[in-house]
Amino acid sequence: EFFETPYESIGEETLDQLVDAFYLNVSNHPLLAPVFPEDLTETARKQKQFLTQYLGGPPLYTEEHGHPMLRARHLPFPITPARAAAWLACMEEAMDTVGLEGDVREFLFQRLSLTAQHMINSTDNGD
Ligand code: HEM
Repeated sequence: EFFETPYESIGEETLDQLVDAFYLNVSNHPLLAPVFPEDLTETARKQKQFLTQYLGGPPLYTEEHGHPMLRARHLPFPITPARAAAWLACMEEAMDTVGLEGDVREFLFQRLSLTAQHMINSTDNGD
């Protein structure tokens, strides 16, 4: 297939598995678990919608929730450099779990690294 989107290249099923593996890692991470809701069902549902459109698939997130405004939506949570690194480590481990490899993995991880960096709104010492 020529000119397929990263979304098509990954596929809906693998993307769903990736997000589920990711939030399992988040729920077990000492720096991340405390800032997330205990029940991650709705969080995972929104993240599947978001990543679908982020990767060039249908705009599922925007259809239901409006403009992502991701940085603004993260302002209620103290996102430190250490938490951003932890988020990315959970994602990398999830990519290993679902066997996401190659160019599309590199592409997604690069983009997520930039987005995670952009979400930082607090320092590690908490001031
Ligand atoms: C929501 C933390 C990075 C996408 C959230 C929530 C938290 C959080 C605590 C709220 C969960 C809820 O109430 O359901 C973090 C931390 C990050 C990070 C600590 C570290 C940098 C990212 C990145 C993306 C992202 C890189 C983009 C791929 C989202 C989305 C939501 C969300 C789409 C749902 C927003 C909504 O409520 O509609 N995040 N996040 N986050 N996050 Fe992050």
